[in-house]
Amino acid sequence: MVPFAVDVLMWSLHTAFAGAWTGSILFFFAAVLPAASSGVIDGPTLSAIATKLRWLTRAGAVVFVATGGHMAGTRYTFDSLLGTGRGHLVLTMIVLWFVLTALVEIGGSRIDDAGSSGPAAAAAARPAFIAAGIVAVGLLIDAGILASGRVI
Ligand code: HEM
Repeated sequence: MVPFAVDVLMWSLHTAFAGAWTGSILFFFAAVLPAASSGVIDGPTLSAIATKLRWLTRAGAVVFVATGGHMAGTRYTFDSLLGTGRGHLVLTMIVLWFVLTALVEIGGSRIDDAGSSGPAAAAAARPAFIAAGIVAVGLLIDAGILASGRVI
């Protein structure tokens, strides 16, 4: 049996990173990109902030795979992942995590390629971050359904 403290550590790291990562992406989309669009933030500054977000995303990849792998390994079997509502929500979570990771990397590299103008860099990255915002909200809803316990 897995010790209580290990489960608490894994669940706490997973939910802490879930909130910090999706929250940072939504804040970047809702507050930082508009500031760059209006010229308050220039291209290099936007790029520096986006680089931090990309590193948080990469750290998140390690944390989500390790903690989520532990959670799936201790609570699910191959059959329950494929054959129950909760299993489908976990599989959806993995797909959305993968898509969101790719969108942050794409948006970040568009900013890097756009040069020194804040508005131009924001315009180049906006489509990727609109999609990222939608996927982040989707992940939070997926996790909320799991946490509600209303799906078996
Ligand atoms: C490799 C990626 C991921 C894997 C393998 C994974 C796996 C899991 C598993 C197995 C659970 C437990 C489900 C249950 O209690 O029945 C879980 C819960 C949770 N996950 Fe993920 N997850 C991943 C990524 C994410 C991401 C990106 C978020 C961001 C929102 C997230 C947020 C949550 C939250 C908040 C819970 C707690 C829900 C509850 O109370 O059960 N996960 N995850």
